[in-house]
Amino acid sequence: MSARVIDGQAIAAELRAAVGAEVQRLSRAHALTPGLAVVLVGEDPASSVYVRSKAKQTVEAGMRSFDYRLPESTGEAELLALIARLNADPAVHGILVQLPLPKQIDAQKVLGALDPAKDVDGFHPMNAGRLATGLPALVPCTPVGCIRLAKTVHASLAGLDALVIGRSNIVGKPLIQLLLAENATVTVAHSRTRDLGAACRRADLVFAAVGRPEMVRGDWIKPGATVIDVGINRVTGENGKNRLVGDVAYAEAAEVAGAITPVPRGVGPMTIACLLLNTLRAACAIAGLPEPTV
Ligand code: GUN
Repeated sequence: MSARVIDGQAIAAELRAAVGAEVQRLSRAHALTPGLAVVLVGEDPASSVYVRSKAKQTVEAGMRSFDYRLPESTGEAELLALIARLNADPAVHGILVQLPLPKQIDAQKVLGALDPAKDVDGFHPMNAGRLATGLPALVPCTPVGCIRLAKTVHASLAGLDALVIGRSNIVGKPLIQLLLAENATVTVAHSRTRDLGAACRRADLVFAAVGRPEMVRGDWIKPGATVIDVGINRVTGENGKNRLVGDVAYAEAAEVAGAITPVPRGVGPMTIACLLLNTLRAACAIAGLPEPTV
């Protein structure tokens, strides 16, 4: 059997178009233009690429984009002062501080200083707690994108056995909460899990978010399962050229799975599309307008 390929690129483009249409409507009906501020400290090459894409797609969706690029040597107090200004700026509805931050800056302190209403990454403890307790929240973008992709295959996730591999604050933990809210039966695996292959073979849904190239093998996949690969790993091929691979051995897994996301063009494009959606949601909430139905 050969798996259906879940086209994250096309699904993300549809979502961006829907967000863009809603932004137009808000602008006409309420003279409201959502604004997203992105803060990059330092020059990490991967982060710089993401930040450029975010800014471009924000503008394409009809929103305002505010870019802050600070030197690697920026001190914590300086970054906190910028956050305070953005918290107070009425043109800014979403604030994203690109991670990782340089080591002289305490990332938790910075995330905790964001206005939770503008925390479009959903990393503030207030939003994490609200998500965990089932209250309305801004939810991290990559896990939201993963759920949206899984739901293109399964109308309902209720009762399905879902395995989340990875327990990061950015992906694994919020994904667990979202899956529980969808009534899936959730297992969490991580670096200390004893028999990951066995856990994987039981799962109808596998979410791989460990950052280890091609760690999940084809013979770990239950026939017909849905595989969502969050990994984006740069590896050097036999020809000496760099290429991107996921956390799943794609060719092997695609022989067994029912549906699978590719890398690239799987989860990656969904993250930015969901960031735009979160910015739209934040702008509506701040303006006292109803939640958008995108
Ligand atoms: N670095 C890697 N992923 C993310 C993300 O989703 N948000 C932010 N702010 N930084 C990241």
